[in-house]
Amino acid sequence: MSSPAELKAQILKLTRDYSALMHKGQRPGDDAAHAPWAPGQTIPYAGRVFDENEVEAAVGATLDFWLTLGPEGEAFEKELAALLGVKHSLLVNSGSSANLVALATFTTHKLPPHKRILPGDEVITVAAGFPTTVAPIIQSGAVAVFLDNDPITGNIRPEQLEAAYAPGKTKAVMIAHALGNPFDLCAVLAFCRKHDLWLIEDNCDALGCTYSMPESRARALGLDHLLKIAEANAAENAEILKRGNAEMLTENAENLKTENLKSESDLSKFQNFSVSKSSYDRVSKFSAPRSPKIPFIRDGILTAYTGTFGDISTQSFYPPHHLTMGEGGAVNIISKPPLKTYAESFRDWGRDCWCASGKDDTCHKRFGWQLGELPKGYDHKYIYSHLGYNLKPLDPQAAIGRQQLKKLPAFIEARKRNWETLRAGLDCVSDVLDFTLPAHAVRWVPPSERARTEKLKLGNSEILKFESAAENAVTRSENAENLKRGNAETAPEKAENLKSGNADIQSSGVSKFQNFSVSEFSDVRVSEFSDVPVSEFQNFKISKFDFSACFEWDATGCRVDTSWFGFMLRVKAGAPFSHTDLARALDEKKIGNRMFFGGNLLRQPVFVQMRQDRPHAIRLVGSNGSTVSPVNSSTIAAAFPGADAIMNEAIFLGTYPGLTAEMLAYEIQVIRDFVAARRK
Ligand SMILES: Cc1ncc(COP(=O)(O)O)c(C=O)c1O
Repeated sequence: MSSPAELKAQILKLTRDYSALMHKGQRPGDDAAHAPWAPGQTIPYAGRVFDENEVEAAVGATLDFWLTLGPEGEAFEKELAALLGVKHSLLVNSGSSANLVALATFTTHKLPPHKRILPGDEVITVAAGFPTTVAPIIQSGAVAVFLDNDPITGNIRPEQLEAAYAPGKTKAVMIAHALGNPFDLCAVLAFCRKHDLWLIEDNCDALGCTYSMPESRARALGLDHLLKIAEANAAENAEILKRGNAEMLTENAENLKTENLKSESDLSKFQNFSVSKSSYDRVSKFSAPRSPKIPFIRDGILTAYTGTFGDISTQSFYPPHHLTMGEGGAVNIISKPPLKTYAESFRDWGRDCWCASGKDDTCHKRFGWQLGELPKGYDHKYIYSHLGYNLKPLDPQAAIGRQQLKKLPAFIEARKRNWETLRAGLDCVSDVLDFTLPAHAVRWVPPSERARTEKLKLGNSEILKFESAAENAVTRSENAENLKRGNAETAPEKAENLKSGNADIQSSGVSKFQNFSVSEFSDVRVSEFSDVPVSEFQNFKISKFDFSACFEWDATGCRVDTSWFGFMLRVKAGAPFSHTDLARALDEKKIGNRMFFGGNLLRQPVFVQMRQDRPHAIRLVGSNGSTVSPVNSSTIAAAFPGADAIMNEAIFLGTYPGLTAEMLAYEIQVIRDFVAARRK
């Protein structure tokens, strides 16, 4: 008879085989094993992206049958905290639960009275967004003070914060990085520091986004926890960069082959498509190993993940989010360890004891406490300091999450790439559509405008810092050889592609779809380098697509690198269609799309009702800086034009890593066709 270990190994082996067969459609979009997709089939706006590793992890943890949060959960919490650079991460069963715990943490009597959020105290938030960013404020008895959103970023307009501040009452700011677009952390933090307020970052849609600010600003804002880790990461980052460059030397030869294929100008459109696809693969392949450890300081700029700047941040692991465990979420304790004890208490029934599940006497005085009016020695396990909840997930969920965490760097890159592909592909309809801009960006720069030689120079100087002349010489000759060989190999392949590509086009009848292949984005991604003399290109080493080059930035010295949750677009006034018309047209083509969550939340039935039932639970501060009174539909319209614009004009498309290049191309073509038809 087989031993339990042998049986488990057999089960897991079969599980992997099953998953590999069953879940091809859930693989990353740039995975060669992704299920084929054809125009007319559904394109989800988001979804779980996984492979057999997650399924094996789930089954393995289920066979172990710990069930409640245990070893996998503990490991996940440590891994997530280490990745972000925060003190602790606590797993919960959803992003909404994370927000609930985060807000509740600041209500504890263990905080000094002036820092504690008590019923009637105020917490500043924004009107448009997801309802459970706001709900915990009111559920905790505090007053939610609403500000308008900027429709271009989807975020708070920080210049309005002062108008919302009420001395002695305002205790915190609780806002989300809208659709993964980081809000202006520098300005919001400055406001919080000035008035000694808590900052809760709802990072549910933004895992993997980074925010950069001058080191001097970071010091002035007291971001010592990030500066310290960045300094500790410095040596390792120098090593990563050196190692990364060495790897690039080898892989560069392969790149050259691909670039060379594209550089021949007489390729048919279909051939171009296959080239752009391979460059798409290449970008993702290249990203992970060369990313420096975050946070880091480079050229006097501190870069850190969003969700690590405030006091507490939250994550959601529901399937549309950056990583998933089905249901799940996390509360990140950024820099103040005592907050962990309070948060954990609210998560775990309100108890005073902090033993992990299945453990006893972590404090070594289980029967030595005297708290409240309980008798001395009452079992600490059953002593309650707070009115708490039980919001823990199961251990198998954490096991799935651990596998997902490993994929996060590739997921982040895919989201950025997908956003940029959509942006470039839809630029030609920007007379009728407006697109989101990241915080601190003043303009999206079309690929055709990006300065190729400037980038080339930058790339070279960066790399040359770490490369010896000898290494360069080797690469040069190797590359020249590869180039020769590459050309010889690719010629027959191209002819074959053309033949089969054309046959496909004819049979599917989607001629426009194939034309997309020469979209601005794919052209530039590849052609940026194609007309550069080989000798120069050899040194360039495309380490990673430089997304920051896609935008022109303001003068603050702050930047963001956005791992987008979605691609938000707004239908401009005067366009010959509404956002609902567009959403409907996309639905007809089975292209997943969503509105920006609850739109202007103040117009949701729950808040309309609240105006009657609990009018003092909310306070509205309009764009003119005054408290809105009375609160009704027309005063909201006058005071919240941004949130209304988001509600009336915006939809978003997916950017999730499960999207393939073909799906994105199809989405772009459908929108272009729709706009063209409406113009007639
Ligand atoms: C910004 C934001 N916060 C919180 C949540 C809630 O997360 P969950 O669905 O895991 O409860 C979401 C959900 O999408 C969200 O987008």
